[in-house]
Amino acid sequence: MKAASRSILFSVLPLLFASAVHASICSTKGIPLVRDINALSQSNYGRGGLSHITVAGSLLHGLKEVEVWLQTFAPGIRTPIHRHSCEEVFVVLKGSGTLFIAESSHEKYPGKPQEFNIFPNSTFNIPVNDAHQVWNTNQDEDLQVLVVISRPPVKVFIYEDWSMPHTAAKLKFPYDWDEKCFHSPKDEL
Ligand SMILES: *[C@@H]1O[C@H](CO)[C@@H](O)[C@H](O)[C@H]1NC(C)=O
Repeated sequence: MKAASRSILFSVLPLLFASAVHASICSTKGIPLVRDINALSQSNYGRGGLSHITVAGSLLHGLKEVEVWLQTFAPGIRTPIHRHSCEEVFVVLKGSGTLFIAESSHEKYPGKPQEFNIFPNSTFNIPVNDAHQVWNTNQDEDLQVLVVISRPPVKVFIYEDWSMPHTAAKLKFPYDWDEKCFHSPKDEL
């Protein structure tokens, strides 16, 4: 092999390898039926104090109707104030905190939210399009929740505060953990 073609080969190989790895992470083919949650990819997606695992997802596992997340919030860590047009169920596995929710008011903005204490083995569901925020207000312990959403992948509208008009809330789509596989080629269609 000539030196020139060899150097081209060696500069192209890592790219091929990277795209193969990327394709396999985002491919819904050949995924084991029973998976070890500890072996799934886990990240904070640039938000310190958060751990997110997509346990079963639309983009990662080809689910159509629901998606399941396992999330851990360090003390003081919270979600943004946000809404989405899907249903969402939380199960608190560990820790405690506060749910802030502005139940469907007919105002132009969410307004002052109601506050609810959340605790181990508590569960709650967020009605479609209600602005809400989950906050680990416990200074001593992580808050761990299992989350189920309908209609994945989630389309999140983020509010800067509770008085921001609904129409000004900013769409984040694909959401942080969906970004990586959102633009990769799909197996089906
Ligand atoms: C949660 O509920 C399960 C089932 O009843 C029980 O085994 C477990 O100990 C409970 N955990 C806590 C922290 O209360």
